[in-house]
Amino acid sequence: MSEILPLTRVAYQAQQAALRWSLVAAHYGLRPLLRHDRRPTERDARSLRRRLNQLFAQDLANVEAGAYPAELLFQLPVREYLWSLPELVAELPRMAWRAKRGAVRELPPDVDLGLYPDYFRRNFHWQTDGYLSARSAKLYDLGVEFLFLGTADVMRRQVLPPLTRFSREAPGPKRVLDVAAGTGRTLYQMTLAMPEHTYTGVDLSPYYIARAEELLAGRNVSLVVDNAERLPFPDASFDAISSVFLFHELPRRARRNVLAEMRRTLAPGGLLVLEDSAQLNDAPELETFLVNFGRDMNEPFFLDYLGDSMEGLAEEQGLRVERVEPSFLSKVVVARAPL
Ligand SMILES: C[S@@+](CC[C@H](N)C(=O)[O-])C[C@H]1O[C@@H](n2cnc3c(N)ncnc32)[C@H](O)[C@@H]1O
Repeated sequence: MSEILPLTRVAYQAQQAALRWSLVAAHYGLRPLLRHDRRPTERDARSLRRRLNQLFAQDLANVEAGAYPAELLFQLPVREYLWSLPELVAELPRMAWRAKRGAVRELPPDVDLGLYPDYFRRNFHWQTDGYLSARSAKLYDLGVEFLFLGTADVMRRQVLPPLTRFSREAPGPKRVLDVAAGTGRTLYQMTLAMPEHTYTGVDLSPYYIARAEELLAGRNVSLVVDNAERLPFPDASFDAISSVFLFHELPRRARRNVLAEMRRTLAPGGLLVLEDSAQLNDAPELETFLVNFGRDMNEPFFLDYLGDSMEGLAEEQGLRVERVEPSFLSKVVVARAPL
C-alpha cells in the first residue's frame, strides 16, 4: 500500500479537469464529422460522467494499492502534445471532408497494400493515411487523447493491476506480450510500473512500431511488425499477454484468429488481459454513445463487436474468465489459461 499525498491528489484532479475541459471545448471542431443519429439524453450523459469519475477514482485507488507508481498519473508528454496540436487541428477539416464524402480508404499511394488484410486498409477514425504513415503515427496519441477527453492513457493503464497481481503470485521476471502495441503507450506504462519483466510488442503497422521504438528506446522491449492473426512466436512463449483497443477494429473471423493465437502462445496458467470498448452486455447504459461511435467514426466492425462479447471469445478458446471490470468507455477482461 502506498498512500497518495493530498497534494498529489489535488494535482491529479486539476490535471484531469484541465485536460477534460480543454478537450470538451476542442470537440466542437469535431461536430461536422458527426451525424449523431441518436442524440444522447441527460440520462446518457449522467451515466458517462459516473463512469468517468469511477475511472479516476480507480486510477488513484490502483496507486494506493501499489498496482503502479504515482509517477504514472503524470506521464503524459504534455509539451510534445502541445507542439503537435496545430497539426492535429489542421487535420480536422480533412477528416470532416473525408467523412462527408464517405471516403473510407484514402491510403498513401506509395504503400504496398497487398501486405495487409482487407479490413486493415482503411482510414479508421477518418485519420489521414489510416495506420500507414509516419505522420499518422506521430499524431495518433494526441488524436486518441482528444477523442477520449484525455482519458486514453488512464484507460490503457487499467490493464496493469491484473498484471501486478499476477507478478506477485510468483515473483521473478515474466515474459509479457502486448498485441497491437501501436505507438507503445501501454508498454511504456508497463515498463515504468514493472521494469523487471521482459516485454515484446507486435503490431501490423511498421510506422506505429517505428514510433514505439522511439518511445521505448533503452527499455527491456522487443518490437515486431506482424499480423496478430498468425503471431511469429512458438507455442507457450509468454507468461502474460495484453491487448488494448484492438478487437473493435477486427471483423468477427479475425477476432477469433487473434484470440486463438493468444491462447496458443500463452504458457499454461498464463494471464490474458484484454481491454477494449465496453459492449452492450456489460454497459447497456452507454448504448447511445457506443452506437454513435460505430456509425460516425469509420469503424465498420464496431457494431458487430458490440454484440460479440470479449469474455465469450476468451471462453471459446478454453480460457477461464476471472474478472470483467469497467474502465470508462472500455472494459478490462482478465482470463487465465488452464495449467
Ligand atoms: C486502435 S489502435 C490501438 C493501438 C494501441 N494498443 C493503443 O492503445 O493505442 C489499433 C492497433 O491495432 C493494430 N492492428 C490492427 N489489426 C492488426 C492485426 N491484424 N495484427 C496486428 N496489429 C493490428 C493497428 O496497426 C493499430 O496500431
